Amino acid sequence: MAAFEEEDRPALLIAGGAGYIGSHVCKAVAEAGYLPVTYDNLMSGHAWAVRWGPLEGGDLQDPARLDEVMRRYRPVAVIHLAGLIISSESVRDPALYYAHNVAGTLCLLDAMRRNGIERIVFSSSAAVYGEPEVSPISEQHPQLPVSPYGDSKRMVETILRDYARAYGLHSVSLRYFNAAGASSCGDIGEAHHIETHLVPLILEVAAGERAALSIYGADYPTRDGTCLRDYVHVCDLADAHVLALQYLQQAVGAHAFNLGHGQGATVREVLATAGQVTGRKIPTRIEQRRPGDPAILLADATRARRVLGWQPAVSDLETIVASAWRWHQSILHRKQAYSNE
Ligand code: UFG
Repeated sequence: MAAFEEEDRPALLIAGGAGYIGSHVCKAVAEAGYLPVTYDNLMSGHAWAVRWGPLEGGDLQDPARLDEVMRRYRPVAVIHLAGLIISSESVRDPALYYAHNVAGTLCLLDAMRRNGIERIVFSSSAAVYGEPEVSPISEQHPQLPVSPYGDSKRMVETILRDYARAYGLHSVSLRYFNAAGASSCGDIGEAHHIETHLVPLILEVAAGERAALSIYGADYPTRDGTCLRDYVHVCDLADAHVLALQYLQQAVGAHAFNLGHGQGATVREVLATAGQVTGRKIPTRIEQRRPGDPAILLADATRARRVLGWQPAVSDLETIVASAWRWHQSILHRKQAYSNE
C-alpha cells in the first residue's frame, strides 16, 4: 500500500468502503479527485469491491488500529458507512446492533478527535422516522423509529449533534431511502451474504435462482395493495457524498438530508418493471405483512436539492432495475459476489 501513502490526492477514510453503498461511494470520490482509504472488517463487505484505493482491514471498535490507519493516511474527512442494516435482525438482537452501530461509531468519532479529523459524512436511513405521519417525509418529520436498527441511526445523529457543539466535529447525515441498482459499467453492485432487499431478490427469481418472490402483504392502503417505497439509484446516493464533503468545507454543525427520488413504486410496480427489463416470468406468492413495514415511505428531498445541489440523475425505476440486472448477469457477480474474498 506504500504507493497509496505517497499520493498527492487528499485521502478520505471510508469506513465500510467494501460494502454495497460504500464501494459505489469509493468510486465516486475517486472520480472527484480523492483517495478513498477503505477501513472494513469484511464481515459483510467484499475485498473484490475495493478497487479505487487501499483496503485496510480493521474493526470500528479497535482504537489502536484506527489510530494506525488515520496516522498513516492523514485523511481530511471520514465517510462512515460501516454498520449492520437488517431491521428484523435488529429486533431479534438489539445488543448486536447497538454495539456495532452506536458503540462502534463512538470509537470512530473518538479516533477522529484524537487524530484531528473534523468532518464526517454519516450513512443514516429513512428508518429514523418510523411509521410516517405524513407523506412525503421531510427532515422535520418526527423521529420515532420502530426498530433498534432505526434507533441506532437516530442515536448516532444525536451524538453527532452533540459532538459538533462540544468538539467542533462537523457532520452531514444522509438519510437514504431505498438504495438499489448498480454501477453503470457493471463493475460493482449489490452482493449481500444474506439478501433481504426487494430488487436483488426479484432478479434472483427472474434468473431462476429462487422459485418465487414473496410479496409481504397485498392489503396495504396503496394504489395496488402492496407497499410503496422510494427507490434511489446507488450512484445517485454516491454522488450525494461528494456534494456533502464539498458542503462540509464551509458548513459547521450537524446537518441531515433525505436522499430519495420522490417517485415511489409499489412492490407490484417493481415486479412489472423487472418483468419488462429481464423479459422473464417472475412468479410471486402473497404472504403475511412483514412486521414494521410502513405502507408508504416517500422522501421529500427538497433540502438536499436546495442546499447540496443534489439532483438524482439515474433513479428512474427502469434505469435502476436495468443496471441491477446487468450486474446480476455479469460474470464478475457470479464468480465473486457470494465468495468471502
Ligand atoms: N418486500 C417484499 N418481498 C421481499 C422483500 C421485500 O414484498 O422478498 C417488500 C417489503 O415489504 C417492502 C419493500 O419490498 O415493502 C422493500 O423492502 P426492502 O427489504 O428492499 O427495503 P426496506 O424498505 O425494508 O428497507 C430499506 C432499507 C433499510 C432501511 C429502510 C428504511 O434497506 O436499510 O429502507 O425504512 F432501514
